[in-house]
Amino acid sequence: MGERVFITEVGLRDGLQNQPVPVSTQDKLRLANALIAAGVRRLEAVSFVHPKIVPQMADAVEVLAGLPKVDALNVTALVPNMKGYERAREQGLKRVAVVVSTTDTFNLRNLNMTTAQTMEASLSVIRQARQDGLSARAYISGALACPYDGPTPVDVVHRMAEQLINGGADEISVADTIGAGNPRQIKDILRPLVAQYGAEAFNLHLHDTRGMALAMAWAGIECGVRKFDSSVGGLGGCPFAPGASGNVATEDLVYMLEASGFDSGISLEGLREAVAIAEQATQKTLGGRILTWMRSQDALKAAKAQPCAS
Ligand code: COA
Ligand code: ZN
Repeated sequence: MGERVFITEVGLRDGLQNQPVPVSTQDKLRLANALIAAGVRRLEAVSFVHPKIVPQMADAVEVLAGLPKVDALNVTALVPNMKGYERAREQGLKRVAVVVSTTDTFNLRNLNMTTAQTMEASLSVIRQARQDGLSARAYISGALACPYDGPTPVDVVHRMAEQLINGGADEISVADTIGAGNPRQIKDILRPLVAQYGAEAFNLHLHDTRGMALAMAWAGIECGVRKFDSSVGGLGGCPFAPGASGNVATEDLVYMLEASGFDSGISLEGLREAVAIAEQATQKTLGGRILTWMRSQDALKAAKAQPCAS
């Protein structure tokens, strides 16, 4: 069996937070069940944010309560502040995610706080989580570029990662929130960090706006990173990051990694069922490139199986 890679499915949170069509709790749970059946064991299922600002996440409590009880299922909730953290802890979660963007403009639009305030709020959440026996991952959002202020200097990301790791985050999710990065930048960001803190401390969260996500994921692999976020069918986009398209599709990432000899523990056929549910729920056509290929193979097989009419 190949070397293990760890994929966190973020479609239920990053993917659904931006959908114009309301997705029912029941549909979210159908999707979660299909993902788990496909082998997903890391699930960022909800966020505990203001329900008026992100109504798509207003049913976070019900979604968490309805998830199947599966051994080794690692569920995360994104929490922007202490209030969100308290709400997550009440649900018995063992892991939370905080998020700090790289510029004041982005932090203010997203969380109504400056970068310094967001960092302080995130460090408080991480500290409290650790005291309470929870673990915390930390997103550096806009790590490659800010939707408002343009490309992000590498040293800004390095300084933030250091602060968050020293503050107790066990994983830094380097996020190309608007899909504006390239593989060279990934190497420039990750090589020094991996050398200093080890590859286990890093995860890549990529959006595929310009079709660079898989190339960037592979650049991460070459730096030693084995943890990635993705979303089923390529769902995604952030309401506070104009121009962002979906996350890299889980099925494309799984295909690339498995084809290259890694073991993701996730089945492509299983993901295909999950994509069908996500399509029904969001009333959108979804699916990564590999799904288009799988569908074309099915169409070919079906055509061959047709008896000749003449
Ligand atoms: N969950 C629910 N309600 C929250 C909350 C949370 N995590 N944090 C604050 N609130 C409530 C407060 O209790 C207060 O309620 P009240 O008016 O009934 O007293 C109200 O929101 C205002 O509190 P304040 O601390 O001033 O928050 P804010 O208005 O500055 O908003 C956030 C801050 C973080 C809550 C808001 O910007 C937000 O929810 N952003 C989410 C953005 C997002 O999801 N982005 C995508 C993922 S990164
Ligand atoms: Zn994202």
